[in-house]
Formats: sequence, structure tokens, C-alpha cells
Amino acid sequence: MVPELEKATVHMKSPEHVRRVISALRKEGPDKLQVVSDFDMTLSRFGFNGRRCPTSHNILDNSQVISEEGRKKLKDLLHYYYPIEIDPNRTMEEKRPLMVEWWTRAHGLLLQQKILKRDIAKIVEESEVMLRDGVNTFFDQLHQHNIPLFIFSAGVGDILEEVLRQAKVFHPNVNVMSNYMDFDDKGVLRQFKEPLIHTYNKNASVLEKTDHFQQLSSRTNIILLGDSMGDLSMADGVANVENILTIGFLNDKVDEQRGKYRDAYDVVLEKDETLDVVNGILCYILGDLN
Ligand code: TMP
Ligand code: MG
Repeated sequence: MVPELEKATVHMKSPEHVRRVISALRKEGPDKLQVVSDFDMTLSRFGFNGRRCPTSHNILDNSQVISEEGRKKLKDLLHYYYPIEIDPNRTMEEKRPLMVEWWTRAHGLLLQQKILKRDIAKIVEESEVMLRDGVNTFFDQLHQHNIPLFIFSAGVGDILEEVLRQAKVFHPNVNVMSNYMDFDDKGVLRQFKEPLIHTYNKNASVLEKTDHFQQLSSRTNIILLGDSMGDLSMADGVANVENILTIGFLNDKVDEQRGKYRDAYDVVLEKDETLDVVNGILCYILGDLN
């Protein structure tokens, strides 16, 4: 059905369930389908040649517009809070207040830096950001078949939109929900807009201001892509879900997190820096033979 599911990176608790959902998604066709995806470390790469790739926050943190002192403080926050974010021995409830703390402190530091709106494109251009292999095929397939893609990100919206723009994949079927910057009339960053989105509140609680999912109420079949346990609730705002296939990238602490991920996601991709499996599934569902 989908040869890519034979890849060594693929793990499924119930291949039978995956087969059943994929068949249903194909049978009901593109008009019933929508895709909900995380951005950082899901559409963007986790690593390349043994080095970590930047998140949308890191793109800013590492840029020349941040003072050396600011950069150090942001890095210290990352080194303190990231292990907490992915700690398999803490519950999401325990992590939630700590993530609010991380995002609040990081955004506070960024606000001290006088970041200019007009510098965003250059900041992204000069960064080391990389999208996963196969990203063009992914975006183009969805665009060609008019399938809405909702990117639900706890990263920085202005940055990730610019990454998509520069990669030439920011098609009209793509909508983004993320942390957006608010600039004053001189184009200087003055605050981050509400609501604050962090790794563990990506659910209906932060979707109040958007009617995105209500507008797509006839699309009751979902493919969800994420890399964090917090990403599993991203489609909770969709009413009347009929079929959902969840695909999780397991990037880090693989041995420790394997059990949890296999229980939670239908398809787990271990240390797979490509979108090959996702593209293979889409290709089968959409009936393309190439
Ligand atoms: P997401 O991929 O779930 O949307 O989350 C965004 C990622 O951003 C999350 O894995 C943590 C990371 N992050 C940074 O790299 N630097 C920061 O300053 C903050 C607040 C988050
Ligand atoms: Mg992520």
C-alpha cells in the first residue's frame, strides 16, 4: 500500500489500525481531509551532520541582532528548560507551568533587544535553519489537492512564516497559529501577541480567536504531524473527527521515549530527518502514482 512504511525508521504499535485509517482516508478522498502539523523539529530538521538545527526561536537567538549577553542568557534558558520539556519522567501537568516560565523569560529577553521587523528576512536568510528532506513535495501535494494545512506552532510565527516564504512553500492553503511579534510604529518589537503558545497548551484553549477549524467543519479526516507529546492535542478543536492518523517524529532521547511515543502516536518515525513516509502516505491517499 505505502512502501515507505517499510522503512527502518518506522514503528507502529498497530500496523492494522494504520492500514485501516489510511484506507479510509483514501476512500473518502481529499475533500474530507485536512492536515495539522507542528513546525519546529517536525517540518524543520532536528539535526544535520551531527549538529542540531535551530528552532524558530533559535534562529532569532543566534542572530547578530542579539547582544552577546542576550545570546548567552537565552542559551542558558534553553539548557535549563529543554531537558524538562522532553523529560519522560514528568507529566505534562508538571511541565506546563515551567514551559510558561521558559517562554515568558525568553520573550522578555527578546523584548530587550530592539528587534526590527525589517530585519526578519535577513535574520532567516543568514540562519542555519533547514527543513526536512521532501518538504517541497509535501507542501506542493497539499496545495495541488487544495488540502488545508494548519501549522500550529509554539515557535515564533513571524520567523517561521519567513522560513516558509524563503523556501517558496507558503501556499494559500497554509494557515499558521503561533506566537506573533507585535511591532511599534517604528517597526521595533514591543511585545508578543496573546495568547502565549508553548509546547503543552497546543489545544482548543488557545484557538478562541480563530474560527479556522469551524470553517473546515466538513473536513473530518485528519493527518496530524508532531514531534512532542504536546502535539497530540493540536486537532482537539476539530469537531466530529471521523478518522485521524497521528505521525510522530521521535528525534531525541529515543531509547527513553520510545515506549511512550509508540503508545501515543499511530506511526512513530525514529531519527528520520525526511518527510518520505508522510509523502508516501499522502501519495497513496491522493491516488498519485508517481
Ligand atoms: P513546538 O515545536 O512544539 O512548536 O515548540 C517550539 C520549540 O521551541 C520547543 O521545542 C522549544 C523551543 N524553544 C526554543 O528553542 N527556544 C526558546 O526560547 C523557546 C521558548 C522554545
Ligand atoms: Mg516541535
